[in-house]
Amino acid sequence: MKIIRHLLFLILAALLTPAFAANAPATLKSPDGQLELTFAVYDGVPYYSLNRNGKPVVLPSKMGFTLEWRDDLAHAFVLKDTKYSTFDETWEPVWGEEAHIRNHYNEMLVTLEQPVGSVESMDHSTETRATVMQIRFRLYDDGLGFRYEFPIKNALVCFWIMEELTEFAMSGDHTAWWIPGDYDTQEYNYTQSKLSEIRKLWEAGHKNGGWPWTAFSKTGVQTALQMKTDDGLYINIHEAATLDFPTMHLDLNDTTMTFRAWLCPDATGYKGRIQAPCTTPWRTVMVCEKATDVLASRLILNLNEPCALEDVSWIHPVKYMGVWWEMISGKSTWNYTNDFPSVKIGETDFEHATPNGTHGANNANVRRYIDFAAANGFDGLLIEGWNVGWEDWYGKEKVFVFDFLTPYPDFDLPALNQYAHEKGIRLIMHHESSASTGNYERWMEKAYTLMNQYGYDAVKGGYVGTIIPFGEGHYSQPINNHYHYAIEEAAKHHIMVNSHEAVRPTGLCRTWPNMIGNESAMGTEFRERIHPGHTTILPFTRLQGGPMDYTPGIFEPDMGKIVSWGKRMNHTICNQLGLYVTFYSPLQMAADFPEHYEPYMDAFQFIKDVAVDWDTSIYIMAEPGDYIVTARHPKISTLNKAAEGVGTLADGKKDVISNATRFVYDIPESVETCCSASLQNPRDVWYVGGITDENARDVTVKLDFLKPGVKYEAVIYADGPDACGFAGDCFDENEMAEGHYPTGVIYNPYAYTITKKVVTIKSVLKLHMASCGGFAVSIREK
Ligand code: NOJ
Ligand code: CA
Repeated sequence: MKIIRHLLFLILAALLTPAFAANAPATLKSPDGQLELTFAVYDGVPYYSLNRNGKPVVLPSKMGFTLEWRDDLAHAFVLKDTKYSTFDETWEPVWGEEAHIRNHYNEMLVTLEQPVGSVESMDHSTETRATVMQIRFRLYDDGLGFRYEFPIKNALVCFWIMEELTEFAMSGDHTAWWIPGDYDTQEYNYTQSKLSEIRKLWEAGHKNGGWPWTAFSKTGVQTALQMKTDDGLYINIHEAATLDFPTMHLDLNDTTMTFRAWLCPDATGYKGRIQAPCTTPWRTVMVCEKATDVLASRLILNLNEPCALEDVSWIHPVKYMGVWWEMISGKSTWNYTNDFPSVKIGETDFEHATPNGTHGANNANVRRYIDFAAANGFDGLLIEGWNVGWEDWYGKEKVFVFDFLTPYPDFDLPALNQYAHEKGIRLIMHHESSASTGNYERWMEKAYTLMNQYGYDAVKGGYVGTIIPFGEGHYSQPINNHYHYAIEEAAKHHIMVNSHEAVRPTGLCRTWPNMIGNESAMGTEFRERIHPGHTTILPFTRLQGGPMDYTPGIFEPDMGKIVSWGKRMNHTICNQLGLYVTFYSPLQMAADFPEHYEPYMDAFQFIKDVAVDWDTSIYIMAEPGDYIVTARHPKISTLNKAAEGVGTLADGKKDVISNATRFVYDIPESVETCCSASLQNPRDVWYVGGITDENARDVTVKLDFLKPGVKYEAVIYADGPDACGFAGDCFDENEMAEGHYPTGVIYNPYAYTITKKVVTIKSVLKLHMASCGGFAVSIREK
């Protein structure tokens, strides 16, 4: 309140004083008129604020930077110019949650100057040109984006950022779903709390994550940060188009409830080395009345540039399996031998080493997965641990850790690719850089060329461990540039990329649609450590920037059945099915072992049937931390794409029905080739998925999105009456004693029912979700 009064007074003074006339506040409204942005310079300092229907969302907040060797971009500004424009277009993503995205905003560009003589460089030379900083604001119906721009006509040419001063002053002590700020990991469980409680809960939240970790403040949090006001308004702070810039965290002043941008420093402590002309990433404040509107928002994608690639014909959605969970669960190993405590790539002799008998990526096992994946309509198979070096890859901070070229003796790369292609499957390459970024760059061209030679068109990257060059964090400017370099180089080779442990995405997949996935959050690999409700939060936070390779589909969540030290994960089988609809990703994995699917092939049918790319998505109900229910309609144009050019389909018959299409539209195998006509006008198909946290729920879903006058068959996969996915193995005794969690429940993640029903636009489904459960429904026109 103090700040509001202060600013009102200042603005008034500015309006009334002729000398301040140029600094009168400038305002901008969203296309629907509900959001209003105000910008003003007072006493040389730029401020902005944001209101919704007259109520404050962001109170007057400072903008600017502190710089090295020079006066800061924080004072002595005068407002020289204000330009307005409006924009309205509809664009078509290469893949996505919908086929058409509207990008409609009103824009205001303010030009600020520090006049000649008003600022000094540290060497006491006075700059002879004015310093120019522009701020471009874009106001959408669902939020605000703004960025700083440094034009070429400027006293500033090359400069070094010490701090970004951008504030986000909240109007109250909102509820937030947050993970601790950290320069090296994003793999955390979320904490739900009031902003004022972050400090007290921060330490516990920070313990609950990945490795390595480098914290900076007991009130530091990461974006996308989802909040909810006491009035029920959903506010989400994130950033868009982070290129050649460090990632933004937020640090909270918990007296004033004001966040300040906190950039990840590079190894020298700078938070951005800048060269004009250039722009910063967009800072974003999404404002929505309903939680489902947050899920439907395309603010982050819209603030990114259009597709940079001319030819995108080689980019396609991928449903895949992997020789992966074997290693994560402890059943197999990435390494081939136990002979070597120390590996020197190019010197260590693997040909004569003793196989350890636990190496997962061996020819026979890979063939077994290829057979299963091909029989069940998958497009791809990831194989980790195929290349030499895994014996000492972890925690040793080795610079030359992998060459990404040399397979272990029991992995016949050419033969396995041929076998896979004959069955319509592409192998997915794995490049774990072990965070040695320079080494990866050194080998990248050869590694991508090898992929081209054998027909791999997708790579999973990884950045586990301490970043090399030493001193850098995972999200500093130079390392963000490395991730982007990998994407651009891959595009030149027509390779799609899915990076784990890389920086959280900021919508760059609009511009570079070969970036089909990222992990960048706590995913399934964290097993029993994942808290109930985690997957009901991620679509509000991590997924705002782009799809996540969450690796769902674990049908045997009791890891104790695989290894003696295993614990139980918090989900039911139907919860895992629900994730294929509630989580958007054009790259979706069925992560479990074939032998874990075999006892439940009737439930596995949903994973076989479900599409991974959509022309329409409807967010039916949602609340972060509690539940999500979503309906989606497949996009026909991308369904066959994964199969083009692979093995059995390489006979020139592009019109062949791919495995994916066959399952989505339930086309019998007797129909061998597809007529474009039936694909262009296929039976209507929808999928509905739901997930819940530790609380069991009954939900009612109206099928009012179906076509009128049409009869459909719905196959409903639901938690059985005695199902329960809550294991509680992620909590310690004290937490359990707090009483937030179900007690007296009996863990039974396996119980489900499958029912078929004729439904129409008038039908209403009543569905039960068990504790940590969910449901999935496929609906096909009869
Ligand atoms: C961490 C990744 O998230 C996981 O998927 C991968 O299996 C391991 N690193 C090894 O690369
Ligand atoms: Ca990871």
